[in-house]
Amino acid sequence: MTSVQTLVKELTHKHGKKRESLLPILQGIIEKDRFISEYAMIEIARELDISTAEVFGTATFYSFLDTKPRGKYVIRVCKTITCSMKGKNQILLALEDGLKIKLGETTPDKKFTLLATNCLGWCHKAPAMLINDDVFTELTPEMVRQIIEDYKKRDIA
Ligand code: FES
Repeated sequence: MTSVQTLVKELTHKHGKKRESLLPILQGIIEKDRFISEYAMIEIARELDISTAEVFGTATFYSFLDTKPRGKYVIRVCKTITCSMKGKNQILLALEDGLKIKLGETTPDKKFTLLATNCLGWCHKAPAMLINDDVFTELTPEMVRQIIEDYKKRDIA
């Protein structure tokens, strides 16, 4: 068994083989490998008994398919309507300012990547973002600055 196969098996064991398990499984793969290969998508489709097109569609929808090198912490800011109306732009500006990068970029130390994503399902607590698989909601620019500072300190200890 390849390491991708093993990982997909571990994740389906953990999250189950239901259709709703697809997103946590994709997130689990990103966490480990930092991107989702075509091979991994085929394996997931096989395990969940769904089509590879469906896996691909979900991965694309959540912008999980970019194969460029990623930072250790991947920040995904929700760009969908509720978050947009509730101040997504200010959140993004605070992130760009705190990280000194633009949307789509990775910091030179490879610690952070900043991406936009579609609705994360937290519209009732917008604006929202993910850092790897941790969700942050009801964000303000001040909270974002604090979160970034906390993450920057994480690996220094
Ligand atoms: Fe942002 Fe739904 S619109 S979480």
